[in-house]
Amino acid sequence: MHSKPRILIARAISPEVVERLQQHFDVQSNQEDVVWSPQELAQQLQGKDGVLTTGSQRIDAALLSACPQLRIVANMAVGYNNFDVPAMTTAGVQGTNAPDVLTETTADFGFALLMATARRICESEHYLRAGQWKDWRYDLFAGAEVHGSTLGIIGMGRIGQAIARRGAHGFGMKVIYHNRSRLDAALEAECQARYVGKQELLSSADHVMLVLPFTQENHHTIGEAELAQMKPTATLINIARGGIVDDAALARALRERRIAAAGLDVFEGEPVVHPDLLTVPNVVLTPHIASATQGTRSAMAGLAADNLISFFAGKGALTPVNR
Ligand code: DGY
Repeated sequence: MHSKPRILIARAISPEVVERLQQHFDVQSNQEDVVWSPQELAQQLQGKDGVLTTGSQRIDAALLSACPQLRIVANMAVGYNNFDVPAMTTAGVQGTNAPDVLTETTADFGFALLMATARRICESEHYLRAGQWKDWRYDLFAGAEVHGSTLGIIGMGRIGQAIARRGAHGFGMKVIYHNRSRLDAALEAECQARYVGKQELLSSADHVMLVLPFTQENHHTIGEAELAQMKPTATLINIARGGIVDDAALARALRERRIAAAGLDVFEGEPVVHPDLLTVPNVVLTPHIASATQGTRSAMAGLAADNLISFFAGKGALTPVNR
């Protein structure tokens, strides 16, 4: 029997967090950042009491039954759609996520993607690098207005609210939102956001921002029918999860200019991106980096580590997603 709990860090994380975990646990760390298959992960987890995951490792019944010693999985992500929560609860395994520490950074990125998409920054940079720029032209990469436009936010949790504040207070945007439940009046006033139905949001927003968690019910929340409800001048920004958007339907809508442009940080089946998206010019594509600043990624790993430390100290998980 080991005197210290045995912990696996499933992917590379900030070295200072590895060092902190080493003070508390017998740590095996994947700082080489090998991407393991589910079978390899199960193998690496043999004899481990806890694991720090990144959101790319699927924790399901098959893995749990292969790792009976496992007691806690600490995700360094706010989203935890990589967890089968009921299976974890049945197996008596604690799951934790990493909320709050990434809210403002992720909202910053949502805005960066919105600006890049509306103002065609990537398209115009490619044009310039390709030596195609001959002279100033009145309509050269003329994009969509951001300030004063209507921002429609689907999913009004912490990140959605942070985006609403940026839009309303920073850019004088009219903010409308749709969510499972309506915010209380004080929060609506602070965010200067008005609750509307999904159809009204899609048909009246100049920019639609997706910030909702991924669940079975949210699969293809934006598909052919929803894209058809959007304005032809509108943009669609997804910083939530792939799978919320039907990428094939979106690629068709972009190609046929049924909506103006899209900015996507997440993809169904990532890191593989639907090939049709790769060939349309009016889409900005980024590799799931909305929370990627050094400070925030370190804080996310730090919160996952705090969860492991608190749990094994018998004080319970800090940010549990089950039990
Ligand atoms: C999250 O926290 O869910 C992010 O998508 C991971 O970067």
